[in-house]
Amino acid sequence: KPIYVINGPNLNLLGHREPEIYGHETLGDVERTCADLARHHQLELRFFQSNAEHELIDWIQEAREAAAGIIINPAAYSHTSIAILDALRACSFPVLEVHVSNIHQREPFRHHSHMSARADGVIVGCGTQGYELAVLRMARLLSAGR
Ligand code: DQA
Repeated sequence: KPIYVINGPNLNLLGHREPEIYGHETLGDVERTCADLARHHQLELRFFQSNAEHELIDWIQEAREAAAGIIINPAAYSHTSIAILDALRACSFPVLEVHVSNIHQREPFRHHSHMSARADGVIVGCGTQGYELAVLRMARLLSAGR
């Protein structure tokens, strides 16, 4: 089964919006780098991005049957969405949360993520490399469970 890599609002603009915060790599760049890395670890990735909360929830629900784990950057919904947290709580496989920026160094309203209550690991402030770190961690978690 693949790993679902789910990205929330405005991450379609990664590499273009606020590059001083989020860097210059696009989501497409991240996808290519992570797909290569995943292949080396016998993992397959499926990338998703939506600006709509309900689409993120639908993909998480689909993942319950279709995926072996989720890597998620819920973006601004991290700080607001109990609905996405509940969807993640309905999943029994590993869930890793990624934030490109160091949310703890930014405005107070970004310091708390509802998702972290469910996430098995949280990678924050490592830039877009955070996605690669999450792939490595996912490989470790799944090989331990195999
Ligand atoms: C983000 C941090 C969020 O606070 C912000 O709303 C984002 C991206 C990150 O990856 O650093 O859109 O999740």
